[in-house]
Parts: sequence; C-alpha cells; structure tokens
Amino acid sequence: MTSLPDDLPPLAVTPGPVRAQPLPADRPVRWGILATGGIARSFVAELALLEECEVAAVGSRRQESADAFAREYGVPAAYGDYRRLVEDPDVDVVYVATPHALHREHVEMALQAGKAVLCEKAFTLTAAESGHLVALARERGLFLMEAMWMRCHPVVRRLRQLVASGALGEVRQVRADLGFVVDRAETDRLLDPALGGGALLDMGVYPLTFASLFLGEPSRISAVATLSSAGVDLDVAVALGYDSGAVAAVTATMTAWCPRTASLATDLGRVDLPGPFHHPSGVTWTPYQAGRVTGSAEPGRPQPVHEEVLGRGYTHEALEVVRCLRSGETESPLVPLDDTVALMRQMDAIRAQVGVRYDADHDARPGG
Ligand SMILES: NC(=O)c1ccc[n+]([C@@H]2O[C@H](COP(=O)([O-])OP(=O)(O)OC[C@H]3O[C@@H](n4cnc5c(N)ncnc54)[C@H](OP(=O)(O)O)[C@@H]3O)[C@@H](O)[C@H]2O)c1
Repeated sequence: MTSLPDDLPPLAVTPGPVRAQPLPADRPVRWGILATGGIARSFVAELALLEECEVAAVGSRRQESADAFAREYGVPAAYGDYRRLVEDPDVDVVYVATPHALHREHVEMALQAGKAVLCEKAFTLTAAESGHLVALARERGLFLMEAMWMRCHPVVRRLRQLVASGALGEVRQVRADLGFVVDRAETDRLLDPALGGGALLDMGVYPLTFASLFLGEPSRISAVATLSSAGVDLDVAVALGYDSGAVAAVTATMTAWCPRTASLATDLGRVDLPGPFHHPSGVTWTPYQAGRVTGSAEPGRPQPVHEEVLGRGYTHEALEVVRCLRSGETESPLVPLDDTVALMRQMDAIRAQVGVRYDADHDARPGG
C-alpha cells in the first residue's frame, strides 16, 4: 500500500519571468478594485486579513456605489467611473471584478494605464480575447494573472506536489463537477448571453482547470449541453481524452444541486476532494494494493491531507500577486498565462460543439 510521506517538503514556487520593476517591500501593495459586485466584496474582505495589502481605491459605474463600498470597507478613494480608478497613481494593481464579457475592455484599460492586473475568471469570453490581453501585457512588461484562486490554494498545491512526486501513482481518471441552482432574473450575468452567461464559463472553468492541472492539455474533447431559450448553457457535460490514455469527465450546472466534488483515480489508489472541491478544506488519499488495477483489491486506510488556509482562500491568490509584484515577475508560475489561454481554447471548442455563441466569437473570426 502506498502511504503518504510523513515529512512533506515546503510548497515552493519556481519564479516566473522578471520583466517589471519590483515594488518596494517596505510598504503594502495598493489595490484598486474595479466594480462593486459580489466577488469584489468577498475579495476585499479577504485582503483585510493581509498586512501586505491595502485597498487604495474603488471604481464603479455609479459614484453612489463606489462611495457606499468605500464607506463599508474603509477605502480612501472612490470613483464613479473605471477610468479614473485605473489612472490613480496610488494604485499598484487593479482587480477586475466585472462580468466576463467586460474583462477584455477593463483589463485592456488598466494595462494601457500601466497597471498590473488580476482579472476574475472566466478570463475573457474567447481564447482570441485572452491571447490579445496576454500579448498586450507581455509587450508592456506588466503583470497579468487570471484570478483562478484554486491554483493558489494550499491544499490543491500540495496535491499537485504529491502527484508530481509520483507517490500516488499515475493519474488515469479525473472527475469533477461544479454548480448550483441559479434562480435569478434573465438579466442576471449568469443567464444573459451579452454578459457571457452560461454554466461553462462561470462554473465549468474550475473542473476543466482542475483536469488540466493533473493531465495537461487534452487531445480530444466531446461535450453535450442543455441551453436556455436565450442560448446559454444551463447544464454541460464534457469528456476529455489525453495522449497518455488518461480521461476526464467534468460537468457544470445552473439547474441542479450537484455534489461539487472531485476525484483523481490512479493505478495505486484514489484522491477524493469533498465539496467545494475548488477550495477544499482537505483531501483524502485511499491507497489500494499496488499493481491490482483490474482486481477487487481492498482499500487501505484513508489518509487525510490538510494545509493551513487563510480566510476562505482568496488570500492565497492575493499573496501570489504580492510575491510576483515584489520580485518584478510579470507572470505567476502558479497561474501561467499560457495555461489560461489554453483553457479558453478548450472552452471555445466546447461552446462550438454545444452551440453557445457570444458576440465576441464574431470578432474572433478571421476578418471579423
Ligand atoms: N473567484 C470567485 O470565487 C468568483 C466568485 C464569483 C464571481 N466571480 C467572477 O467575478 C466576476 C463578477 O462576478 P460577480 O458575481 O461579482 O458579479 P456581480 O455581483 O453581478 O457584480 C458584477 C459587477 O460588475 C459591474 N458591472 C459593470 N458593468 C456591468 C453590467 N453591464 N452588468 C452587470 N454588472 C456590471 C458592477 O459593478 P459597478 O456597478 O460597481 O460598476 C457589478 O456590481 C465574474 O467574472 C465571475 O465569474 C469569481
């Protein structure tokens, strides 16, 4: 039976490309919050847990919303438009928290103003839009990262380290699902195609990213979905095949209370991630008898893997941004930009198969 090592090495990061002037280490990193919706609130509440961070300014479409947000979270500057926020010289990094369909415009605005950017998932609507932003950030030598906090989560990082060490055997199957019942108005961003609605881009991005963390890029993708009358995917199921012979099955839903769990099955045992798998409190490794891949081997004692998590876990993506800005790294090795674009390509392919189209698809066509 394969037991987990008693002494696990520290979680280390191999530095990314250093192309920017490092921020001073003797003062907090100053954040500018672009939008005042649900995730902006959750994120700012978590920044408050970090001495390394302060919120310098907030921007909203409406001055009243910016003022109310600033009062609630003690933010010194509040702007009634996004442009003034990105141009504030007291802002080091802009956190883009608008609906996906607006990410391209808002990330571009912040990069053009010379700011580092952390942008919420889904990074954009299409791979072409993501590629455009990545090229712009690289051209300007500016930091850019998708807010895929699961990749920075200590438990997920530990799991990747354990899998990479070979201690858990070879990953042959990944299964993951995410979603909940979305009981909202048709104009809500989750249901509105003009805002990038749909289960795939909002929820499916996590199980797909999870599969890619352990299996890399798929060579085959096959998807089915049920669409709303407005044309966004309410339920989607995706089968992925890899050159190694491994497979993955991921689903996302806006109509059902799915388990929100994940598992990795290897030739030596299984890892179970309880819900919500994308920020797990811990995971369990259940070893089976080595080499008995086809038989009915008895499972060994399940072994828990735990890590210290600060707050809900958004802290760890913020700390990764701080680490990169203080070392002058323009791309996080934990959330590589090329992986973000590759993931967007998978979502493009899935949407093409199930018939979900956004206006941005038109722009992405050659000559479009
Ligand atoms: N990482 C996570 O765990 C997580 C969780 C939830 C959402 N997200 C991501 O974060 C982004 C925002 O999600 P959310 O749940 O915070 O959405 P939300 O509550 O609807 O807030 C979005 C905000 O964007 C701004 N906005 C600008 N133009 C808008 C428009 N035309 N329609 C609606 N809002 C507009 C608004 O702020 P102002 O009025 O202040 O301008 C609005 O409050 C999405 O990309 C989503 O996928 C991530």
